[in-house]
Amino acid sequence: MQGTKMAEKRQFHAIKGVRDILPPESALWNRVEAAAREVFAAYGYGEIRLPIFEQTELFARSIGSETDVVQKEMFAFDLYGSRELEKWRGLVRSGPHPKDPLSFQRNFVELIKHWKLAFEQDRLERTTSDVQILQGLDEVNKELLRVIDSGAVGSSEWARQVERGSFLAADLQIGQSVVLRPEATASVCRAYIEHGMHTLPGNVKLYYMGPMFRRERPQKGRYRQFYQIGAEVLGQSDAPAIDAELIEMLVVFFERAGLTGTTLAVNSIGCKECRRKYVELLRAELLKVKEKLGADSQRRIETNPLRVLDSKMPEEQAIIERLPRISDHLCADCRAHFAKLQEELKLRDIQYEINWRLVRGLDYYTRTTFEITAPGLGSQNAVCGGGRYDGLVELLGGPPTKGIGFAIGTDRLILSLQETGKAQATASLDVFVAWMGAAAYPAAVRLARRLRGERLSVEIPAEETKFKKALGLADKLRARHAVIIGDDEVASGQFTLKNLATGEQEKFGEAELVEFLKASAKA
Ligand code: HAM
Repeated sequence: MQGTKMAEKRQFHAIKGVRDILPPESALWNRVEAAAREVFAAYGYGEIRLPIFEQTELFARSIGSETDVVQKEMFAFDLYGSRELEKWRGLVRSGPHPKDPLSFQRNFVELIKHWKLAFEQDRLERTTSDVQILQGLDEVNKELLRVIDSGAVGSSEWARQVERGSFLAADLQIGQSVVLRPEATASVCRAYIEHGMHTLPGNVKLYYMGPMFRRERPQKGRYRQFYQIGAEVLGQSDAPAIDAELIEMLVVFFERAGLTGTTLAVNSIGCKECRRKYVELLRAELLKVKEKLGADSQRRIETNPLRVLDSKMPEEQAIIERLPRISDHLCADCRAHFAKLQEELKLRDIQYEINWRLVRGLDYYTRTTFEITAPGLGSQNAVCGGGRYDGLVELLGGPPTKGIGFAIGTDRLILSLQETGKAQATASLDVFVAWMGAAAYPAAVRLARRLRGERLSVEIPAEETKFKKALGLADKLRARHAVIIGDDEVASGQFTLKNLATGEQEKFGEAELVEFLKASAKA
């Protein structure tokens, strides 16, 4: 009994870095997301709904194994709970122990046992190849027992079976590590390849919205579960007009969402060839000033010198400003691409600034990179980031493909709207139906249903409530109108309507009342 009482008292909290989004704020989220859907549809994008978790390897390969996201921030877990399997497989693969060769067969039995268990518990995918391998393991086990029985341990037949068993164990698809997605570009490319979307006509334009997960240090505008609204264009062309149109769509969306005061920064980080040369030059220059840099930048000289340009450390700023700039080292094609992008932006009247240090934190970018900052966000002021990633699809095993896209941090967009006073709260309730009396109740229920059928939002007390109290609640709920229905109103067929903002009251028959409320909800 005492245990139950203790359990009752326990309070649960959302864990660090994740949060609930409650009404009325969630209505603002819905408005922002609806605006995105509208604008993206106008630009010919279709929605892609992606899985929340994917193979770890997908992100490691796309984002880059040396990036912060992959090194420190991914929430990984073992999908098949296969630690036990991995252990026995390791033992089988290491072969017979010189002092106890028979242990090989015992390990083999354990591997088969745990493998079958994982199958039964549905912890493994039933791929045909695994089922065949499992049959093979069973056969090898029988052969091993036969060799042991005939006293031929150590013979060439024994060695043959041991080798066959190890190969089979190596082929088992075991222990797939998966992560909660830290971003969605890699997933979009994976899906593009998986569904053969390169055969679709024209450019493939997709958008997505949903939660992403990064184990970052939580602070204002930075969460461990955060939301993105993103879009990607994949296809055969890398024309700068595609980049510019994508940015135009962003600008239109921000306008529609009511976000103002944003700044767009663009840059080109070159293609594989010119960037490689620039990175070498940058590394050489950084080595000359290594002692003056902080530990992170010193490490990055080796792992990813471009990221040094991202540094926010005040002591490093003067040094960075003197480093060679990529714009002076772009190849002719990349230089032309960047120049044309700027023309295309001007053609669209899009204000931008060039930030030569904008290299972005993910490795897949080529040529165009961009970032949008918004007011009211403090240090985490990037509300959107994006860029070109030609070659990423190929890197993931698909056909040669060009790509560009962006992701908006929805949490930050909302925060910026709130902090700059653009998130006006709208009354969420159109009508409060106050009723009293046995005859009034059924009339009130019917009226509420009719109004809701007209898409008005309506609240009706579940228990009889004195009018004064009911109207007080209607006020607190910020309803626009209250309908007052007592037995007298039912008898006369005339309902009293009260405007809760002005206090005015008027009587209506039911049909006129419905028409009046419909009209005023639209206004
Ligand atoms: P990203 O710059 O890593 O790019 O993220 C895009 C945006 O997501 C950021 O500008 C920020 O607004 C938001 N964001 C990132 N981390 C957090 C966090 N911990 N808390 C709150 N908001 C956050 C990408 O994810 C790329 N996939 C964008 C892209 C699409 N590039 C090409 N296509």
